Amino acid sequence: MIIRPRRLRVTQAIRNLTSETRLSPSMFVYPVFVREGKNIVEDIPAMPGQKRYSPDRLPKILERAVKNKIGGVLLFGIPEHKDDTGTSAWKYDGVIQQAIKISKREFPELTLIGDVCLCEYTSHGHCGMIKGGKIDNDSTLEILAKVAVSQAEAGADIVAPSDMMDGHTAAIREALDDKNLQDTLIFSYAVKYASAFYGPFREAAGSAPAFGDRKTYQMNPRNVREAIKEALLDIEEGSDMIIVKPGLAYLDVLKTVKEKVNVPVASYSVSGEYAMIKAASAQGWLNEKNIASEAAISMARAGADIIISYYALELAEWILNGEL
Ligand code: PBG
Repeated sequence: MIIRPRRLRVTQAIRNLTSETRLSPSMFVYPVFVREGKNIVEDIPAMPGQKRYSPDRLPKILERAVKNKIGGVLLFGIPEHKDDTGTSAWKYDGVIQQAIKISKREFPELTLIGDVCLCEYTSHGHCGMIKGGKIDNDSTLEILAKVAVSQAEAGADIVAPSDMMDGHTAAIREALDDKNLQDTLIFSYAVKYASAFYGPFREAAGSAPAFGDRKTYQMNPRNVREAIKEALLDIEEGSDMIIVKPGLAYLDVLKTVKEKVNVPVASYSVSGEYAMIKAASAQGWLNEKNIASEAAISMARAGADIIISYYALELAEWILNGEL
């Protein structure tokens, strides 16, 4: 017996009605790059359509996020001043803190997620402190805790540590609680692979490591059981939700992790995934809208409760218009 409708054309509404996988604007998180300065909106060459905004120019793009009812925005700061220890990352009036304050003031209902890392703020471009030519995990934890507190005090609802240091969630939770910031959630990048898919982001954020690579703290793409270990550790330490990153090439990891945990799991469709779709569609080789939609559907089908994507605004718009 054939149970699949055999009509020549199935409406989007019927396709949605009979779907095992449902998408909604509220599951999408939109990453936004904020740079120091005034009245700046600049293109990011390897991520066509994405921009760097100075804090005063953020409201316009956030307005679109609110209009499309998306789940939240993930803010990345790009400071003017970088040094060995990334001091600009926790300054009271640092670029990310300014961005958070302006966004909270303009759109109190929009969920603000601050990316907590040091690579955009350190002169060497690594996510941790360097001591004796090595990444020093434990002294990095203190700094990450300061960064998280400064973002929460500025008004971030959620902090998202993307550094991949061991013990980061516990250090951040303790520091937040000490400052009476119990309501701030932690959305940790628990499962983050050392991936070449981050290339365009490093250009966008000026965060490529000046020497070496991130393979000593980010995960080996050949491992999947290690992902379960990382996820459980972060959850044990207090992560309220976790990220598996990159997205499409790691859906097996996402599915495996999802089966083992009891918190929301996000798939982060990273800069390289976006750049590939953009480049191929610019050539006319792929249909951008169909591919971006299918990629999001695939992440949801694999179990993503949340999808972090540079297509978040478009995807939400297509859903609201009944086109996806
Ligand atoms: C910072 C960070 C990175 C990304 C998110 N947070 C880059 C990296 O680890 O090198 C990548 C996001 C993307 O590629 O879209 N640690």
